[in-house]
Amino acid sequence: MSVSLPYAVDDAIRQAIRQLPPGYWDFATADTKEWTHGYHSYPAMMIPQVARSLITIIQQHQPHIQTLFDPFMGSGTSLVEGLLAGLAVTGSDLNPLSRLLAQAKTTAWDPDLVQITVDRVIRHVTQVSISEADWPQFDNLTFWFKPAVITDLARIKRTIETTVNPAIRPFFWVAFSDTVRWVSNSRNAEFKLYRLDEPRLAAWNPDVLATFQKVLARNQVGNARLFGRRPLPPVSLHDSNAMDLSGILGESFDVMVTSPPYGDSRTTVAYGQFSRLSLQWLNLPIKETTPAPNKLDQAMLGGQAARALAHDLPSPMLQAALAAIAAVDPNRARDVLSFYQDLDVTLREIARVMRSGGYQCWVVGNRTVKKVQLLTDQIIIELSRRYGLVPVVDFTRVIPNKRMPKENSPSNQVGAKVTTMNGEQIFILRKQ
Ligand SMILES: C[S@@+](CC[C@H](N)C(=O)[O-])C[C@H]1O[C@@H](n2cnc3c(N)ncnc32)[C@H](O)[C@@H]1O
Repeated sequence: MSVSLPYAVDDAIRQAIRQLPPGYWDFATADTKEWTHGYHSYPAMMIPQVARSLITIIQQHQPHIQTLFDPFMGSGTSLVEGLLAGLAVTGSDLNPLSRLLAQAKTTAWDPDLVQITVDRVIRHVTQVSISEADWPQFDNLTFWFKPAVITDLARIKRTIETTVNPAIRPFFWVAFSDTVRWVSNSRNAEFKLYRLDEPRLAAWNPDVLATFQKVLARNQVGNARLFGRRPLPPVSLHDSNAMDLSGILGESFDVMVTSPPYGDSRTTVAYGQFSRLSLQWLNLPIKETTPAPNKLDQAMLGGQAARALAHDLPSPMLQAALAAIAAVDPNRARDVLSFYQDLDVTLREIARVMRSGGYQCWVVGNRTVKKVQLLTDQIIIELSRRYGLVPVVDFTRVIPNKRMPKENSPSNQVGAKVTTMNGEQIFILRKQ
C-alpha cells in the first residue's frame, strides 16, 4: 500500500479545490433547510453545503477518517453533515441552547413514535389550565410576552414535561424554543432583542398553539428523513468553553469543520441575547460553571475587553490592524485584541485535541472595525503556526445577496444590513 506524504495530500486538496467551477461555493439556490437543518433559526449558521463539500474533499483524500469535531457547533450544522458522511461527531459550544439544538438535530427518532406523541401533546395541551401563579419567573416576562401568550406557552411546557417521554423531549423542546421566539414581542427579523414598536405591538396577537404545531410538522419531515439514514454514527456533545477543552483527550479527532464567532458578542453577533428568551423559558439543567442566560455574551470570545493594548500574539497582521484601530479609538482596539487573545487560546486547545495529520476547516468572516479590515483568516493562520498548524488553502466564498437580507443580518445595529462583510473566508490547516 502506498502512503502519501502529508504535503502531497495538501497539494491534492489544493488542486481539488482549484478545479471546482467558479461560483461553486456560493450555493445560491441550495436548500439550506434540508435534513434537520431547518429545525430552528440561529445566528450566522453555516451553509450545510459548505460543510458537506469540505467534508467530501477531505474524505476523498483521507478516506480512512472517522471522527469530526466542531468546537463552536452553534446549531450543529457541521455535526449533521459529519453524521451524513458517516463520521462520529463531537461538538461543543458555550451556549446551552446550542447543545439542545445540536442534540435534536443529530438524533433520529422513530417517526411513528413522534407522530403518536405529537397527537397526544396537541390533544392534551388545550386541556391544561394555567393561572398566573404557574407563569415562569424571570425578569421582564411581560415585557417580552403578552399574557395570553405566556399562558399558552406555559400550557405547552407543562404538557411536554408531563406527557412526553424524556428520551424524545429534545425534539419537542426545540419546537417549543422556536415557538417562543416567533410568539414573543421581539422583532423576529433580528437576532438581537428589540421589542416591536408600539403600533405593531398593539396589533400583535400570535396564535401560539398553531405556531407550535406548524414548527412540529416542519421538524417531523426532517426527523423522518434522518431516520431513513440509520444507523447513524455516535454523537458526543459538550458545553465547554472552546478556551478550555480539558474534558477532551488530546489527538482525538481526524477533521474539524467550524465557524467561530466573527468578533465579540457586543459588537458582532449577540448569541446570548438571541438565546435568552428560549433559555429562560426552557430552564435547562446546566453545569454550575455555565453562565446564566443574561451573562452568556460576556463569557464568549472577546467578552471582556483587554486591560491594555500590549500583547505577545505572534501575528504581524493583527498587530498592524490593532495599531490602525488604536490610532482612532484605543478602546475599540482593546475590544478587538481581547477577541483575538481568546481566539488564540482556543487555537491551542483545538490543536491539542486534533490528530496529527488531521485537517482543520475554518469558515470565518473578515469584519471591518473603524474602517480597518480584520483579516481573521490570515490572523488565525499566523497565530496557529506555533501550535504546529500549516496552511493548506485559503479562498473566499462570495455570499450571494439573497442570503444577506435584513432578517439574516448578524449585525447588532437596529435594522442594519451587513455591509462590512459580503464574503467569508474558507481555509484549511493541517496539524503537523
Ligand atoms: C458562527 S456561530 C456557529 C454557527 C454554527 N456553525 C451553525 O451552523 O449553527 C459561533 C458559535 O460560537 C459560540 N461561542 C462563542 N464563544 C465561545 C466560546 N468561548 N466557547 C465555545 N463556544 C463559543 C457561540 O455560542 C456560537 O454558537
